[in-house]
Amino acid sequence: MSIEKTDFRQTLGCFATGITVITTVDDDGGPVGLTANSFTSLSLDPPMVLFCLDRNIQSFEAFHDNRHFAVNILSAGQKDVSSRFAQSGAEKWSGVEFETWETGCPILEGCLANLECDIESIHEGGDHVIIIGEVKRIARADDGSAPLIYFRGSYAGLNGG
Ligand SMILES: Cc1cc2nc3c(=O)[nH]c(=O)nc-3n(C[C@H](O)[C@H](O)[C@H](O)COP(=O)(O)O)c2cc1C
Repeated sequence: MSIEKTDFRQTLGCFATGITVITTVDDDGGPVGLTANSFTSLSLDPPMVLFCLDRNIQSFEAFHDNRHFAVNILSAGQKDVSSRFAQSGAEKWSGVEFETWETGCPILEGCLANLECDIESIHEGGDHVIIIGEVKRIARADDGSAPLIYFRGSYAGLNGG
């Protein structure tokens, strides 16, 4: 059975996810980042996570060449952040406040949680690569904020609203 692309996307959209902005830095130390819902946990000991990166996006080389990335897990109030980082190009950083930890990867403000990782390995995955990171530092809001959810191609609340 051949699977049609739109049909495949819509089928995958039935799997509700949280949303992250995953960041790194380019050769000149400039911030790089994209909205990603392919993030998932991988291992507790050692602490590892992964995400899938499209080979055809502008950020690809920066992630491939840098040995670190940061994961910013978005809260329900950060739809605008998700939309901004789903756009291609460096302009998405204009006016964005962030701090940096050990590796220089941008840590965004107002997130549910942030993780800083060393890239452990990169694996082939069709038109994407799977990037596995060992987590080196974490922070969490613990303020009762709800997560930003993505479901059937739209943002949703935990109760579908
Ligand atoms: C909800 C959502 C989830 C996304 N998840 C991913 C993902 O997991 N991996 C990926 O490579 N792109 C993902 N994208 C697409 C990138 O955010 C988008 O291609 C971005 O423009 C890339 O920016 P760049 O070209 O500046 O690197 C997602 C987009 C949206 C809206």
